[in-house]
Amino acid sequence: MTFTCFDLRMIATLQGAQKIVVLTGAGISVESGIPTFRDAITGLWKNFDIEMLATAEAFLRDPALVWGWYEWRRMKVLSAQPNAAHIAIAELAGRVPQLSLFTQNVDDLHERAGSIDVRHLHGSLHHPRCFDCGHPYSLPDGVPDEPEGGRRLSPPKCLECGGMIRPGVVWFNEPLPVNILDGAFELSNSCDLLIVVGTSGVVYPVAQLPEVARNAGHKVIQINPARSELDRICTWNVRGSAGKLLPAMINRAF
Ligand code: OAD
Repeated sequence: MTFTCFDLRMIATLQGAQKIVVLTGAGISVESGIPTFRDAITGLWKNFDIEMLATAEAFLRDPALVWGWYEWRRMKVLSAQPNAAHIAIAELAGRVPQLSLFTQNVDDLHERAGSIDVRHLHGSLHHPRCFDCGHPYSLPDGVPDEPEGGRRLSPPKCLECGGMIRPGVVWFNEPLPVNILDGAFELSNSCDLLIVVGTSGVVYPVAQLPEVARNAGHKVIQINPARSELDRICTWNVRGSAGKLLPAMINRAF
């Protein structure tokens, strides 16, 4: 069943919530011009299976292919701006007693919209590190002229050990950052409202968080223009774009 963003019970729940968890996925950055994860294969990489690019094995097999793909994505993010949905979440945090923001996104658009303490469950494009010793590596801030579709690019070398620098994202078959994941499960269990925005709900363990909240007796609002794997779990499924619906819902509530 679907609801409008002005559903009275949903708005009342939002107004009364003391502890809110917000969980975002690639859909929240669509209106900033960042393709969703499953739309993201274009240009040079259109003939590659995404799971073949997002693994340690792929990086070791062809570092320039994988580093170039992630640098292309980072450049797209650097030239993008946060949209109304990112801004609405940052504003909501100022209006409720407690809001914890977890994202599967590897961009920094929540931070640039003003959210503080953004917890990146799948890492970040902006924090690369050495493949061998784990030492962090600083990338230049500027946006170099990146050809549309990207290019092959050799990864830089670690200044500590000379190893290859890898993207700071979580790849398939790698563990998620344990403190962040534990916090997400704990807060989903103890919050009184979870709002999930723009995720297909197919990648575990993150896709389990709305169910954790529901099983603990809490309400879950989902914002997504399309059906998702989370529909059967959520209390309210609100169909539409995050950039329109989140500000409308929050303005109605406060
Ligand atoms: P997906 O690409 O799987 O799903 C994006 C979701 O956003 C879809 O359900 C769309 O319907 C929805 N969407 C599209 N436009 C939207 C809009 N304007 N407003 C709101 N929603 C919109 O992305 P994720 O679910 O984030 O993991 O993907 C989860 C994980 O899969 C990623 O973090 C990545 C990938 O494997 C890793 O890299 C570890």
